[in-house]
Amino acid sequence: MCGIIGYTGSSNALPKITKGLSVLEYRGYDSVGLAATTEEGIVTVKCRGRIGALEERLTALSLEGCTSGIGHTRWATHGGPSDRNAHPHQVGRVTLVHNGIIENYKEIKAEMSANGVEFLSETDTEAAAALIDACYAASGDPVAAILQATARMKGSYAFGVLFEDRPGEVFAIRQGSPLLLARGADGFYLASDLTALLPFTTEYRCLEEGELAHLSPDGAVLLRAGGEKIIPAWIRSTMTPESAQKGGFAHFMCKEMHEEPEAVRKSVSSRIREGLPDFSADGITVDFWRQITGVQIVACGSAMHAGLVGIDLLERVAGIPATCHIASEYRYHPPLAAEGTLVLVISQSGETADTLAALRYAKSVGLPTLAIVNAVETTIAREADRCVYTYAGPEIAVATTKGYCTQLSVLYMLAAAIGHGCGRLSDTDARALVRAVSEDAPAAMAEILSRREELCELARVLAPHDHVFYIGRGVDFAMSEEGALKLKEISYIHAEAYAAGELKHGTISLVEEGTPVIAIATERALYDKTESNVREVQSRGAHVILLCPADMARGEVSATDVVPLPHGSEAATLFAALATVQLLAYETAALRGCDIDRPRNLAKSVTVE
Ligand code: F6R
Repeated sequence: MCGIIGYTGSSNALPKITKGLSVLEYRGYDSVGLAATTEEGIVTVKCRGRIGALEERLTALSLEGCTSGIGHTRWATHGGPSDRNAHPHQVGRVTLVHNGIIENYKEIKAEMSANGVEFLSETDTEAAAALIDACYAASGDPVAAILQATARMKGSYAFGVLFEDRPGEVFAIRQGSPLLLARGADGFYLASDLTALLPFTTEYRCLEEGELAHLSPDGAVLLRAGGEKIIPAWIRSTMTPESAQKGGFAHFMCKEMHEEPEAVRKSVSSRIREGLPDFSADGITVDFWRQITGVQIVACGSAMHAGLVGIDLLERVAGIPATCHIASEYRYHPPLAAEGTLVLVISQSGETADTLAALRYAKSVGLPTLAIVNAVETTIAREADRCVYTYAGPEIAVATTKGYCTQLSVLYMLAAAIGHGCGRLSDTDARALVRAVSEDAPAAMAEILSRREELCELARVLAPHDHVFYIGRGVDFAMSEEGALKLKEISYIHAEAYAAGELKHGTISLVEEGTPVIAIATERALYDKTESNVREVQSRGAHVILLCPADMARGEVSATDVVPLPHGSEAATLFAALATVQLLAYETAALRGCDIDRPRNLAKSVTVE
């Protein structure tokens, strides 16, 4: 949800900023811009469109000698995508880029307009630039100006700020939106995400809320509101520049799907001791599990779909009541929580504003919280009482794949740990479940990924259609929700998921000759019931693609097409179904010529509510 980069040092800033922006594009890509300090002052170049459009403008300008600057890639919130609304925004001596939303921007704009400021854009950001400029005019001190201005802002922000009369200096501050600093051999950086800086450095430090960063070619200093100055202690990341590259695949999404088996193994193996689930390395002991009487899972989008599977796992395997909630609804309609209820938030990015707000709400009413997060050191990871990381590595494609499947694998392990820790799951059953997730599931996903041609043929069935239905029962209904979301977001085909038995209560009237229906039936106990629902739609002309365990597929099956899934264990079959729906969505979007890694209107990290 908007990407920020900044640099100051001894090298040319422009290629660094444009390179960083091209990596950050996944955060928003409707417009792009940068501001660089030149001998003539600050030059701002910005436009609607993507990084290529900005590079064309830069080539035409041939700016030279810019060794500091800030850049931004935008996901529009206030004011549509346009040259005018693109960042950076400049008012008086202040030029800035912003990620987040200034909720009281109208009030600030009105006050600044009354003082003679003429606003050029529809953005909330320009109000922030005007307010900082007004404070700077009053104090002449950039640090005081930023602190005074931000103290008046409500909402969320990460800012990169330049002052016309402070060449070579870059200032940054954040609240609720991510921002980190980094040190390279030839200067200092700021960015929304470390992946943007991997081509230059791996030494970084997250900017804490309430800290203001002052970067110059000579160093980085952090200032706290009380006036305390700190020299940052740098952390070295183990990520490499390759982590943020496509590695020979046509799209990041394809690369990331192929990383799934390994990502699941990694996320699970560190939580196994002597074949049993063990989260002690995450600082969670058996005593903690024993205090839990129920779980409320809270998340958004795909992470919420992982939570839907989580309900089944926690109730069936761990034997405790569980519910799953859409994060953006949670704090407005908080469910009743009995003593001992754990709030489990799930987030790949660790920065999703709705999930963060739900987490903060849960903490504010005194509920214990646990987060499943992929991106390390992010706000959700740091604010939750406890955090269990998934080890998916950086996920760049907007549609999550390896992020989701590692969330699922950790949910299996959590359910096994709670069930075993509370004496509701025997040693033998706990070991079998751990083996299913750590060994069978990655192998089953790898098998599906090796059957790409078969799935490409089935994608040809889906590609010409405008509507597709997904049906399933139990966890397969949850998987249907994920399959439908994946198809919608990247192929723009309207897709809906239904509990297999529910379709006949109205929606079946939409099924006509050739309507594609993807039926997921990994749960053996429910197979016959789902098979009846397959017959219902098939006899009304639907083209049914049935995903079921391979041994079931050998019997008489009524579907038009069948995808036989590896069937070592139910967990393996479910992960295989996941890889199948992901690959089907991917191949369908590819056939339709869609922009798979950057679907329209979306952004990877949704840091606005
Ligand atoms: C769909 C997708 C989104 C995210 C959702 C939550 O492919 O990626 O639905 O799952 O925005 O994001 P995180 O997990 O980062 O909180």
